[in-house]
Amino acid sequence: MSSSSCMDSLSLLVVSAFLLFPTALFQLSNGGVTSSFIRKSEPSVDMPFDADVFQPPPGYNAPQQVRIMQGDHEGKAVIVSWVTPSEPGPRIVFYGMAEEKRRYKAHASSVTTYRFFDYSSGFIHHCLLKNLEHDTEYFYQIGIGESSRQFSFKTPPAVGPDVPYTFGIIGDLGQTYDSNETLSHYLANQRGQAVLFVGDLSYADDHPNHDNRRWDTFGRMIERSIAYQPWITTAGNHEIDFAPEIGEVAPFKPYKRRYRVPYKASQSTSPLWYSVKRASAYIIALSSYSAYGKYTPQYQWLQNELPKVNRTETPWLIVLVHSPLYNSYNYHYMEGETMRVQFESWFVEYKVDLVLSGHVHAYERSERVSNIAYNITNNDATPIPDPSAPVYITIGDGGNIEGLATNFTEPQPSYSAYREASFGHAILDIKNRTHAYYAWYRNHDGNAVLGDSVCFYNRYWGSNER
Ligand SMILES: [Fe+2]
Repeated sequence: MSSSSCMDSLSLLVVSAFLLFPTALFQLSNGGVTSSFIRKSEPSVDMPFDADVFQPPPGYNAPQQVRIMQGDHEGKAVIVSWVTPSEPGPRIVFYGMAEEKRRYKAHASSVTTYRFFDYSSGFIHHCLLKNLEHDTEYFYQIGIGESSRQFSFKTPPAVGPDVPYTFGIIGDLGQTYDSNETLSHYLANQRGQAVLFVGDLSYADDHPNHDNRRWDTFGRMIERSIAYQPWITTAGNHEIDFAPEIGEVAPFKPYKRRYRVPYKASQSTSPLWYSVKRASAYIIALSSYSAYGKYTPQYQWLQNELPKVNRTETPWLIVLVHSPLYNSYNYHYMEGETMRVQFESWFVEYKVDLVLSGHVHAYERSERVSNIAYNITNNDATPIPDPSAPVYITIGDGGNIEGLATNFTEPQPSYSAYREASFGHAILDIKNRTHAYYAWYRNHDGNAVLGDSVCFYNRYWGSNER
């Protein structure tokens, strides 16, 4: 796709945005744009247990909280996970293409339960479907008789430099009415083929004793998306579930039991950091809440991982990490600073295209800047424009129980291109090896409305255009 056609898409959407919002929504400051759109300031509350989207499917012991995840490094395998509430269910997954939907079968490799304080989980099944064809729709069936359920997914095209692919981007989702609206908007958008999820899923830990029933309700709420397309997850602070006061001292227990990722396929030793290739993208998920200092397993893994990325095969290099490295809100100030100091020079050296984060419950997109010159004596510690640097996007605006971050650092720093305190989601539409169209949509009075959009030029193949 040519640069001009990407610009045509942009122009059209910008015009649409102004037609929808004739009144000025933006104010310019020393930096970029701070949107003056003010969202309603009602408190965010989790939906009650009897909300429609939390209801289990009918039938005795019917599989629920069904989800899929990429199961290998290349996109030819899928992990199917589900929970049965009353007893271990049949381990078999039948799957196949349209003409013969039950042609193949696979067996769940594990069925586990866990306890968390006074909560006992259902029976968590994980089943790997492998040797799949690329770019193919598969149907799969779990359970038996009246309790059986059928879903489908489409495998990604074979990895290649000019393969178009569209990702949704969601973070800090939770299970409030706003969370549900964000998810509905993403589904209505219909363009996303997989989700890049930047951490903080259920927010169960905001309830007494980390009420793990909220992991179940969350799993049922998101099934309408995640049973049909993978959510490539990274862990946030709300996945830690470290609660020594109630005897729970194993960090990430519910998350790791429930959400499987193919970390071994990228030679990682932990599900908290791993990579996958998908179409023309190479996605690296990192953990803000695991050690990343020099010599640690995560540091060593990333050090070995970045040189492996072949931009001739996967031009788009995307990092997911929960805590933002650049953030101009007055929330979580400097929490991402130690990782920035540790890893930013690598992100610049390897020309990472995008670093996607959550944690701050609002939206922000940076300019391409770096701050890697400081050496203790040179006082050189200010972010500067850098064409080799990633764009940093903070998108912790899924709509969780903790509400919006509405307080900005003033004046807006020069590295901040656009920021707005609204809930929403984004779409990253990779066109080819050089261009990707990106758009962020706010939740606006029940609608998803374009708030920010930009054409990204690939750092490896594109020009040095900022
Ligand atoms: Fe967070």
